[in-house]
Order: sequence, then structure tokens, then C-alpha cells
Amino acid sequence: MYYLNPNIENLYRIFDQNERKDYLRLDLNENPGGLPDEFIRQVLSDITPQFVAQYPETLYFTKVLAKYLETDISHLCLVNGSAEGIRYIIQTFTSAGGRIVGVVPSYFMFQVYSEMYGREFVKVPYNKDLSMDVENIIEMLSEDTQLLILLNPNNPMGNVYSDEEFESIMSAAQKKQITVLVDEAYHYFYPKTFIKYALEEEHVFITRTFSKFFSMAGCRLGYIVGWPEGIKMVQKLCTPHNTNAFAMKFAEAVLETPGMADSLIRKFTEGRRYLIEWLDKHGYPHKGEAGNFIFIKPKTEVRKIIDRMKREKKILIKAYLNVGELGDCLRVSIGEKKYMEQFTAALEKIDK
Ligand SMILES: Cc1ncc(COP(=O)(O)O)c(C=O)c1O
Repeated sequence: MYYLNPNIENLYRIFDQNERKDYLRLDLNENPGGLPDEFIRQVLSDITPQFVAQYPETLYFTKVLAKYLETDISHLCLVNGSAEGIRYIIQTFTSAGGRIVGVVPSYFMFQVYSEMYGREFVKVPYNKDLSMDVENIIEMLSEDTQLLILLNPNNPMGNVYSDEEFESIMSAAQKKQITVLVDEAYHYFYPKTFIKYALEEEHVFITRTFSKFFSMAGCRLGYIVGWPEGIKMVQKLCTPHNTNAFAMKFAEAVLETPGMADSLIRKFTEGRRYLIEWLDKHGYPHKGEAGNFIFIKPKTEVRKIIDRMKREKKILIKAYLNVGELGDCLRVSIGEKKYMEQFTAALEKIDK
């Protein structure tokens, strides 16, 4: 008899719509402007037929990254986007029927993977004011929980943990021998990191990506940070040469170009400041700007705004319904000022 995995058969996936290249895309937390043109051309000018013909040198870039992070390669596993790393951790450190605890709403792939592999995803809601319910997270950590997933900062809420909050969650997880995954996809927009736990302790992983701050979502590159034995385990899941040569070439250039990170943060901070000041001036409640996105409570109906933004202004943004005390909201990716001006001009016209 032919076999079809029922977890896959019953899995609900939303695939991204294409045909979007003419839109200003503020719905996926990409950098709308991307890296400087000149930089892109410079990196591409180095590409030779041999570069394209050969399998990628993963070890070489892992060393570059280790130097950048001031660690060594035994703590790192490169992945084809951090979404892949998250999957590897779930596959390696949880079992069929196993319990995974995470806050919701959150990055949707945590739940997708849990269903894909037949795990039980236990959802911890936020407080009404959208702060993290730390006590509830700790209460949900039962003896049979295998994995706790935290985000720093959180997507989509953009909220964060204090050192004390994080420490108390970690010690509760460690007492019950629960592996902890901290998703730091939005690191650098928010500088505080919990990477030291992944470097110094066992059963703690950090996942990070080159898609967001480093503006390379099209390249697909991320990494897992963890203790060497844990990293060895997740590496066993990697397909051969799982990260592509172009991604690593761009990432190396991004990390090693003097002033690149500073320039990215400067443009982003200017865009964020402009947007927040505009929202405040125009009486829009907003929340959660620790990542490169923000929640905005509009004056009129969310669905209509999203639809008109797309049809009339060619701007894509995302709807989130029932977001605590904010109710129905728009989530908008933050980019450099000129894109934020394009968005606020459209919002001013449409939301009235
Ligand atoms: C919180 C979070 N984690 C992980 C990812 C996946 O990023 P990537 O697979 O591009 O590294 C995203 C993407 O939006 C995200 O928002």
C-alpha cells in the first residue's frame, strides 16, 4: 500500500504569493532598500565560472563567522535560512508526541514544524498589554516538556525580556532538563542578546539569520549557535552543502566591509524615528518596535486598509487581528526613511 504521512497530509501551509516585485513590500520584515547597489556589484564582480561550478566552502565561511562572533566553529552550524535551523532543532531535541512550549502569536513556523513532526505545541498567550507572561511560561514547563521556544525580540509583538525574566525562565527550564531555543532573527535591530547562554551552557541554542538586519533574505543564510555536542547533533541533519556559495560570499563581504553594519543601523534608525514621530503626531497607537517592524492600530477597518494599500498604492502590509488591548492592527516592516514616507503618505490618504 502506498503510504502518505498523515501529519503532512493534514498540514496547513500558506505559501507566499509571488508577482510582488512591483510592490513596496512591508509585510515580510525584509529591508525594502536592500544593501547598497555598489556593494552588490562589487561582490558579484568576483564571481567566476569555477565559483559557480564548485560546491560551497562551508568551513571557510564558518570560520569567518566564528571570528566575527568571537567564538570558534564548534559552536556554529550554518543553515539555509534560520527557518531550517529551527526545524533541525525540533527534529533533534523533541520526539513524536513531545511537548513544545512557545508564546503565541509568534513566528508561525514553530507551530508548522510541530504539526509536521507530530509534536504537541503548547501555546502561551501574552498579557493583555502585550507584555510577555513570564510566570505563565514558567508554569507551562511541565516535566514532559522537551523544548521551550523564546524569541528575542519577539515577532510579531516586538517585545523583549529583561535579564531577570530571562534568567528565571532559563533556570526553570534547566531544572526540568528542557532544551531552550532562542530565536534572535531580529538581533542588531535590538542589540541585547542571550548568546552567552548558548555559548556557555548546554541545551540552549540561538538561531540567527542574514535575512533581516544584513538584508540578504534572497540569499537564504542563517546559523545556529550552541554547545559543541549539540551542534554536532544538528549538523547530522544538514543536507550536504546546505548553504549556498553566493549567500556565504555576500555574508562574508557584509561582515568584513568596514562601516556596513553602522550604515545599515543608521538608515534603519532614521526610518524608525521618522515613522514613530509621524504616528505619534497623527494619534496612532503603536507597539513593539524592538525588531524591524511595528504594530499600528489604525482608525478604520484593518482589512480594507490592507486591501486598498495593495490595490491603490502597491504597498503590502500585514493584518493581525485581536492583538491584546490594541485589537485589530497593521504590522508594518520598518525600512529607511524614504519608504516610511511612502507608507505614511498612503496611510494618511487611506485611513480616514
Ligand atoms: C522570528 C523569525 N524567526 C525566523 C525567521 C526565518 O528567517 P530566515 O529563514 O529567513 O532566516 C523569521 C522570518 O520572518 C522570523 O520572523
